[in-house]
Amino acid sequence: MPRIPPTARKALLTLHLVTSLGWLGADLVLLTLGIAVQRGADPAVFYPVGAVVGTVLFAPLSVLVWLIGVVSALLTPWGLLRYRWVLVKLVITTMMVGLVLFLLTPNLRHAGALGAALPARDRADLVIAPAVSTTLMIIATVLSTYKPWGRRHAARTTSARKPVPTPP
Ligand code: HEM
Repeated sequence: MPRIPPTARKALLTLHLVTSLGWLGADLVLLTLGIAVQRGADPAVFYPVGAVVGTVLFAPLSVLVWLIGVVSALLTPWGLLRYRWVLVKLVITTMMVGLVLFLLTPNLRHAGALGAALPARDRADLVIAPAVSTTLMIIATVLSTYKPWGRRHAARTTSARKPVPTPP
């Protein structure tokens, strides 16, 4: 894979951070809305807001985070499948994108349409799902900063040296 110059790599990393941590922020908003309804806020007001946040922010960001994450891995010495921390992030994010697009966003839209008529079990799901995804995103963030576990295969050549995290 082609390597990119240090300035382009910094720009890509900035984009990766803005989108992925923005995604985490949107998730925290959904969690807050879900908890607020459980604590007595009006579902006819809060669930439609959750539907908008899910549709125009959370779902598109999930796809962007996946794409920019994959590009960041492919264009830097980290590689997509070379380091365990990158691979685990790829697996976590891929699972989450599927759940966000095919489960959480439809559920948020359904809740937005039903408002106060949404059954109690479905209301609990609107707290549990963002709580689980927020936890996974925090795990992804911790993996990114600590970069644990090393390479998947033992180093064979000099090119297998550990990559410099970000250029100075
Ligand atoms: C498809 C999924 C993802 C892949 C393949 C991926 C890959 C990468 C790679 C290769 C880097 C290093 C970039 C560089 O050194 O220039 C990086 C940095 C980072 N990623 Fe991701 N990422 C993904 C998703 C996420 C998610 C979901 C989050 C958090 C919600 C996240 C948070 C971060 C952070 C905070 C850094 C900065 C680490 C540092 O500079 O020390 N990433 N990611």
